[in-house]
Amino acid sequence: MSKILVTGGCGYIGSHTIVDLIENGYDVISVDNNTRSTPRILGGVEKITGKKIKNYKVDLCNFDDTFAIFQENTDIIGIIHFAAYKSVGESVLQPLMYFENNLNSLINLLKCVHEFQISHFVFSSSCTVYGNPDKIPVTETTPMKPAESPYGLTKQMGEQIITEFAKANTANCILLRYFNPVGAHPSILIGELPIGRPANLVPAITQTAIGKLPQMTVFGDDYDTRDGSCVRDYIHVSDISHAHTLALQYMIEGKNSSKCEIFNLGSGDGTTVLEAIKAFEKVSGVPLNYIVGPRRPGDVIAIYANNELAKKDLNWELKYSLEEMMTTAWKWELRLKTDEKFYSGKPSELN
Ligand code: WQD
Repeated sequence: MSKILVTGGCGYIGSHTIVDLIENGYDVISVDNNTRSTPRILGGVEKITGKKIKNYKVDLCNFDDTFAIFQENTDIIGIIHFAAYKSVGESVLQPLMYFENNLNSLINLLKCVHEFQISHFVFSSSCTVYGNPDKIPVTETTPMKPAESPYGLTKQMGEQIITEFAKANTANCILLRYFNPVGAHPSILIGELPIGRPANLVPAITQTAIGKLPQMTVFGDDYDTRDGSCVRDYIHVSDISHAHTLALQYMIEGKNSSKCEIFNLGSGDGTTVLEAIKAFEKVSGVPLNYIVGPRRPGDVIAIYANNELAKKDLNWELKYSLEEMMTTAWKWELRLKTDEKFYSGKPSELN
């Protein structure tokens, strides 16, 4: 079987992608230093797939340790690179930590791609690279505006590094720009494990609804949008994950038309924060305790994807609706309540 290395395999999208890769016949190993994740999530992957996943607890910023993984696994044909810090707010407070971690790890990985002649490289990018777009929906050729945070800048720089690397090396590369991944695997055996107070909307909603958070704040309802709250493109994490498998297959089958291609992974629908809350209340039956507060600095007013390229070239078909995103997110929150220790969001307690 073709072996794929998934970096950040104990993370939210990484673990869901491992499930999809296995279900599509790939052999998978993970590398994750578990500073912001727990290897316990691979127990959920095993329950779903029946496969035990080996995780190398390695920091990709350590070149020698990273290199050793490839020496031990000379049958790796592709890499899906998720591992990175991803908190917009934290990146504003600690930019150097973000540049060092997100870029050094990428460069070390690309050195190994070159050294071991790995054929296929998929990069976890983000709609954050568009900044505050002038025109929506955004296509893959929508010009990038200045990044709104150091986190977003690491994604813009990462894309540029990979683009130049692909020109000078044999590897084929694909950059996948996620919009807002939400929800949990339909088995409700894996899902998002925010550490500490969640910054993202949907875990903030579900934690408020279950009583982990006393109340939620909607960050502004005075924007120039249909109901005054920000517009985003929410997309189910399992739809995002399957797109990674399709991107690999696209390159393995030689269908890529250039050395480095870009795809938007969004639902193509714009949803406001207040509409997302209403969708949650509808599927859960739980009225949400929220207030409207001041705008959050750095928030993009409105963005959603034109996803036609991924649908056409990758044969990507979306399976989950906004209601199903909210339903699986809520069922996962309920699962976390019953299984607090196993899925605790504090990895240090569980390693
Ligand atoms: C969505 C909307 C908030 C929390 C995220 C990630 C970023 C990137 C893209 C991966 C905004 C509002 C939120 C709350 C709120 N992902 N909100 N109250 O900012 O679009 O970016 O997705 O690359 O890393 O951060 O997502 O979920 O934080 O916010 O009103 O308690 O929900 O203001 O309008 P965002 P988000």
